[in-house]
Amino acid sequence: MRPRVPDFITIPFIIIVITFVFYVFSGGNVSYIWHPVSLSVLIISLILLLILEVLNKFIYNQKLKFLSQKERSKLVEQNRKNYFVRLYRSGFLDAKEEEKDVAVIDHGFDEILELDNRLPSWWVNLFYLTIMFAVIYFLAYTFTDFAHPEKEYELDYDKQLAEIQAYEKTRPQMTLETARFDENLVEEGKVIFKESCATCHEADGRGNIGPNLTDGYWINKQEKSLFKNVFHMAWYGSENNPTMRAFGASGEIKGNDIQKIASYVYSINRNPKKPSDGKAPEGEKVTWEEEQ
Ligand code: HEC
Repeated sequence: MRPRVPDFITIPFIIIVITFVFYVFSGGNVSYIWHPVSLSVLIISLILLLILEVLNKFIYNQKLKFLSQKERSKLVEQNRKNYFVRLYRSGFLDAKEEEKDVAVIDHGFDEILELDNRLPSWWVNLFYLTIMFAVIYFLAYTFTDFAHPEKEYELDYDKQLAEIQAYEKTRPQMTLETARFDENLVEEGKVIFKESCATCHEADGRGNIGPNLTDGYWINKQEKSLFKNVFHMAWYGSENNPTMRAFGASGEIKGNDIQKIASYVYSINRNPKKPSDGKAPEGEKVTWEEEQ
């Protein structure tokens, strides 16, 4: 029989494992500890563990009675010693001492002697610990989001998106003077154009209530270059027709977004491929100056 592991080791150890399992399955949320359900589970576990310890001790003492006098007094003596000293001894020293009388497995037929060394207990216990950890980790990985790479990636991704959006909000907004055509903004501009402008101009700019934005004819020529003219129109609206409202000046769309929309309109106007059934030209043919 082996000496007993004292209560002040086993009970806290099991409570820590239960807490860890809770922690993992609550998705890494610490505040669950104060939840009445988890608190009562922990308290009930503690009471059960205490009862179990009492029973264990009783059974252990009963078993002691079946041992010889010598073995019994040796065990009682060992149990009295400091647990940590004992642990250290059993881990490192006892194993060495035991090496003296290792069991020998005799193969006989090949005349090779095999020494059946006992593994040091620190090694064996570490091995059990890894098995326990593997089971908890496997279940957590399969059924929860705890320490899950994909979930962590998603969270990080959302966080970064939020940071970009916050930055976009505080970034100085583009104005008629500072805005320039940017090829990289065309795709984003297409999306915003679809939301804000397509009801009147159609998503590809072929025109509907509003004029065709893909042809070379313009009712309004407020600026010298094409990109600036589109920005101007989206910012100030049309002087003659209030249906084309002042999206920028009214604050409905921010300067950075108007730059994106204008980049999109510029790109579809310059694209030689035109929508097949575009609205008939309105206004005059305009030759734009190069963008600056
Ligand atoms: C409610 C309908 C409506 C919406 C929404 C609308 N427009 Fe217009 N848009 C018009 C009308 C109508 C005109 C013609 C104005 C005029 O006759 O002066 C026009 C004219 C324009 C022109 C000048 C075309 C020209 O030939 O002079 C541009 C550029 C333009 N719109 C861009 C946009 C953009 C960019 C958006 C989205 C931010 C937008 N429009 C949203 C109705 C609309």
